Amino acid sequence: MRRLYPFHLYIFVVSILIVRADDDSKRRYLVSDDNDSGITRLKPKIQIAVPVHPYSKAKILPFTLSAIESQEYPKERIKVFIYFDLYKRILDDLTHLNGHRDSQLDERYVRNLLSYEVITAWITANKKKYKDIQLIIRYLDDSDEALQDSVDYWTEPRFRRIIELKTLAMRDSINNWADYLFLIDSDVVLTINKTLTRLVDARKPLIAPLLYSLNTYSNFWAGMNEKGYYVRTDDYYPILEGHKLGTFKVPMIHSCILMDLNIEEAGHLTFDNSLMSDVPYDDIITFAISAKRAGIPMYLMNEVWGYMMLPTRTMNLSTLDQDLTDLRLEAIDDKHTFPISPSLVHFTNRLNPLGDKLGVDEVYVINLKRRPERLKSMLEKFNVLGIDAQVVTATDGKNISEKELEVLGVKPMPDYLDPFHKRPITFGEIGCFLSHYRVWQEMVSKNYERVIVFEDDVQFERHFRSQWFKRLKALDNLPSSSQPDFVYLGRKPLASKEEKLAPIDGFAIPEYSYWTIGYMISNQAASFMLRSEPLKNILPIDEFLPIMFSKHPRTDWMRYFSIAPINAWSVHPLLISPTHYVGDEQYISDTEQTDKIKVSNSDLSRSKHNEL
Ligand SMILES: *[C@@H]1O[C@H](CO)[C@@H](O)[C@H](O)[C@H]1NC(C)=O
Ligand SMILES: *[C@@H]1O[C@H](CO)[C@@H](O)[C@H](O)[C@H]1NC(C)=O
Ligand SMILES: *[C@@H]1O[C@H](CO)[C@@H](O)[C@H](O)[C@H]1NC(C)=O
Ligand SMILES: *[C@@H]1O[C@H](CO)[C@@H](O)[C@H](O)[C@H]1NC(C)=O
Repeated sequence: MRRLYPFHLYIFVVSILIVRADDDSKRRYLVSDDNDSGITRLKPKIQIAVPVHPYSKAKILPFTLSAIESQEYPKERIKVFIYFDLYKRILDDLTHLNGHRDSQLDERYVRNLLSYEVITAWITANKKKYKDIQLIIRYLDDSDEALQDSVDYWTEPRFRRIIELKTLAMRDSINNWADYLFLIDSDVVLTINKTLTRLVDARKPLIAPLLYSLNTYSNFWAGMNEKGYYVRTDDYYPILEGHKLGTFKVPMIHSCILMDLNIEEAGHLTFDNSLMSDVPYDDIITFAISAKRAGIPMYLMNEVWGYMMLPTRTMNLSTLDQDLTDLRLEAIDDKHTFPISPSLVHFTNRLNPLGDKLGVDEVYVINLKRRPERLKSMLEKFNVLGIDAQVVTATDGKNISEKELEVLGVKPMPDYLDPFHKRPITFGEIGCFLSHYRVWQEMVSKNYERVIVFEDDVQFERHFRSQWFKRLKALDNLPSSSQPDFVYLGRKPLASKEEKLAPIDGFAIPEYSYWTIGYMISNQAASFMLRSEPLKNILPIDEFLPIMFSKHPRTDWMRYFSIAPINAWSVHPLLISPTHYVGDEQYISDTEQTDKIKVSNSDLSRSKHNEL
């Protein structure tokens, strides 16, 4: 038996729901383009409804609520309704949290409590700002099916519950007060604070902002078949990728919807499949079909957007946490930040404990001083990933004097020409080499066994941390004689010949490759590289490394260096890629743009030629 009732919590008073239809509930909201002087027209009244899953959204919920709070819309015109399920055990006996239960079960109780704490902290901080905030709690017994079933998230009771909550939210807001209902899932984070205003101003009966997720998933469909299922159409990607900006009529929006309640047909909208014929057992499809049958069009606005979690069928909390990390990384790459309000910041700090060195002695990130935005973005990503990195200020090729090069004994390798541009090495490339070189010097002088070196424009692949640690563990299980001295985390393979896989899973033996965006290097490899005296015959670092690995097609270039071949591997598949590729709009290469070195009598002088 499930009971459903609003609950009075200790900290704040939940007002009784007064079910009273507004006299003017059928009146259309007057748009404010009339010119009556001296009159201030109030913004439409919005009821925001947030159904919260009992435990699976605990970690993203602080961002979801902060994003709602950050919306630039008069809060006195907003009522917030939060619908939440609380396990009785949490309230009855908190000490059970430390009891002897199966760990997965424990974690779900812990997160149920955490969600509750997040919600109540947010309400306490905000209840005076909004017209009203209500928390509608249902108690769950231990016997709740959602808790019993350890694997499948989308159990039938779970679906039923979501349908119930959304139906309740709609009924509450229609009966209560609002011109609009803003129904937002508890794993949606709006990163643009004008979203609510823009949606209201669009004056559409049903409208959603675009929500990005991982992969190409989002909160709208561009095509739907007769039965109400997804159909891929050519309209999807142009809208998703913003090739065209605006408001588009689409057959399906979900997860974050603004509903105009002052339209007669709104009464026909439903999430409940049992009220409709011929619809699948699915709340969002039911809703879209009910809108279609009632003749209410749906719109998607891609000028404002946010992020949402990828839906999962299984409820693996560790996977969910990693997905949240990846979603935050994606937002950082888009130059967006998940909002976090002061009242909730301590909950998110728990996501990023101190940070570590990825299992090696040091993690370096090389950054040019004149690219602070890249460093900021990298440090944000490290923070989200829990990496404690040391920043190395790069040697700036733009600013390097010939005198300094002379002191360092830097001389270009005589027969080097860039294979694509047929040009000598640039000052930028020299600066880049010297930066890595200084890191190798430091690690050798500090006697570090292994370090990881990143450049500052790195994008991390899905589940980076757990993938990396899986690889590192596999390496550590090898006898030290067969461990590689150098491991690419990201690179651009150039060789046409097929590469061999390494003797253990997750690695390949790299052939000729470019890029130095991220690698792990051993003390031994760094010492070899330093001893080969590369500055005396300098060439771009991503040409130098393959020579050290005896993998460079120009075997004649090996004669310039004293080589003890370094055993290099690469993670496979790669774990990082550059944020920008050549040809991208935002691509700025710090090594390509600087002046070339003219190779005249082994002299170093700036050529006048400028590449870009
Ligand atoms: C309102 O007034 C402005 C300036 O006084 C004018 O440009 C605009 O056209 C008017 N709008 C309407 C709907 O009359
Ligand atoms: C809304 O976002 C803009 C741009 O990010 C920012 O400048 C502004 O301060 C924000 N407004 C509020 C009220 O936070
Ligand atoms: C969750 O997934 C991770 C790998 O992503 C796995 O190691 C772990 O055992 C899974 N946990 C459960 C309870 O299935
Ligand atoms: C360039 O070098 C000079 C002298 O070494 C230094 O004072 C200046 O800060 C440098 N500029 C940049 C942009 O690094």
